[in-house]
Amino acid sequence: MKLWFFPLPEDFTGTMLRLALYQPDIPQNAGTLIRLGACVGVPVDIIEPCGFVLSDRNFQRAGMDYLDLAAMQRHVSWTAFCDAHAARGGRLILLTTKAAASYTGFAFLPGDTLLLGRESAGVPGDVHDRADARLTIPMRPDCRSLNVAIAGAMVLGEALRQLAAIVANIEGVA
Ligand SMILES: C[S@@+](CC[C@H](N)C(=O)[O-])C[C@H]1O[C@@H](n2cnc3c(N)ncnc32)[C@H](O)[C@@H]1O
Repeated sequence: MKLWFFPLPEDFTGTMLRLALYQPDIPQNAGTLIRLGACVGVPVDIIEPCGFVLSDRNFQRAGMDYLDLAAMQRHVSWTAFCDAHAARGGRLILLTTKAAASYTGFAFLPGDTLLLGRESAGVPGDVHDRADARLTIPMRPDCRSLNVAIAGAMVLGEALRQLAAIVANIEGVA
């Protein structure tokens, strides 16, 4: 996949980052994240079962014309996703309200997958424990959570910012 917006070295073939959606419930949110991934060149993993079918009109509408541009991979289960992730390598970074570490203090690396939980229930304990790191977006104490697509966009933006700097360093232009 060509990540055209980075000053990537010509011989770079890896995928810098991925987004993974754990059993998404709401088609509009999944569509928004897939559109985000398509626009910034980040593949999106959908870990099924979803709370909707991928042909859902709301999903299609939120993804709009970008579904054709998206690098989307469906996984029939958490186990199937883990197998694919292990084959690819890289770290699994869970975004969760149940973590102490802020995403702003974290050093992202090429190959990281940012895992987002279900709108209704986040992720179960075994998925939480499987992650290599767990990060939060700090909120006021009286707020429960952010919208999942907003949370994904905030952290992906920070990770992309950091990795663009890394690539610039590799090229000696930073
Ligand atoms: C609506 S929230 C899930 C809320 C769910 N009731 C829970 O207890 O986890 C959906 C997903 O968005 C992401 N998210 C929302 N707010 C977040 C925050 N402040 N920090 C990190 N991730 C967040 C997480 O991935 C979360 O699983």
